[in-house]
Amino acid sequence: MNDRQAPVSVAILCPPLVALRITRAEMRQQLNYGIDSPSIIATELILSLVAFGVAARLPHLLGLPARWIGLIVGLYLLLGAFGMVYYSKVGKLKLRNRLLDSIPWRGGERALDVGCGRGLLLIGAAQRLTSGKAIGVDVWLRGAMSGNRPEAVLENALRAGVAERVEVLGGDARRLPFKDATFDIVAPNFVLHELKTGAEREKMSQEVVRVLKPGGRCYAPSSYASSCAGKRNRWRRSG
Ligand SMILES: C[S@@+](CC[C@H](N)C(=O)[O-])C[C@H]1O[C@@H](n2cnc3c(N)ncnc32)[C@H](O)[C@@H]1O
Repeated sequence: MNDRQAPVSVAILCPPLVALRITRAEMRQQLNYGIDSPSIIATELILSLVAFGVAARLPHLLGLPARWIGLIVGLYLLLGAFGMVYYSKVGKLKLRNRLLDSIPWRGGERALDVGCGRGLLLIGAAQRLTSGKAIGVDVWLRGAMSGNRPEAVLENALRAGVAERVEVLGGDARRLPFKDATFDIVAPNFVLHELKTGAEREKMSQEVVRVLKPGGRCYAPSSYASSCAGKRNRWRRSG
């Protein structure tokens, strides 16, 4: 077995502790951060087909111009589905890079990605660290993202060459499994909407503040940036 095929053993901190063996050949593929909300995209696509079907077969229905309504609704749903795929494959990487490039990294920070999914923020942060550590925490809801599982984070981290600066831990954003004042930076992306009630979202905010070191900051780059922007100061732990 040559060096390229040699298995790499890495432990990820997701209870129970999982040791993964991934060959270097497997790592040559590109990083894959998954498709957000795949079931919503599939539903939009199916409904757009139904709408186009109605438009094609029924010019009028109940006295309404069904052809035009079907076309408009179908196009709207189709564009919505493509928009979500575009966000997953292009948009969120751009948002991530813009956000992380705005942080004045020193290299030794401890950074936390809450609801890390397949490691979008986590790996971007690890690429900007030298001696620091990027830690991801998630409950890996299946429907939230395609291929959502802790192993996917590690595969991406290995492909990105940052596995030694990355840790992944199973845990809930509402009860973060860390001591107070542990992190310099917390960066949740597109997680708040997964919490159903205002009380749960408030709990996550409190947890983020709790685990931030004095002077630490929370950065939120997603479409929730506007709602989080107001919280950004709130989510800054005063020194
Ligand atoms: C839309 S995905 C975003 C993933 C990643 N941040 C990204 O931008 O690619 C939302 C993530 O939040 C996670 N999540 C949902 N509820 C959570 C909770 N209570 N605690 C931790 N993670 C949670 C889901 O499992 C999922 O991975």
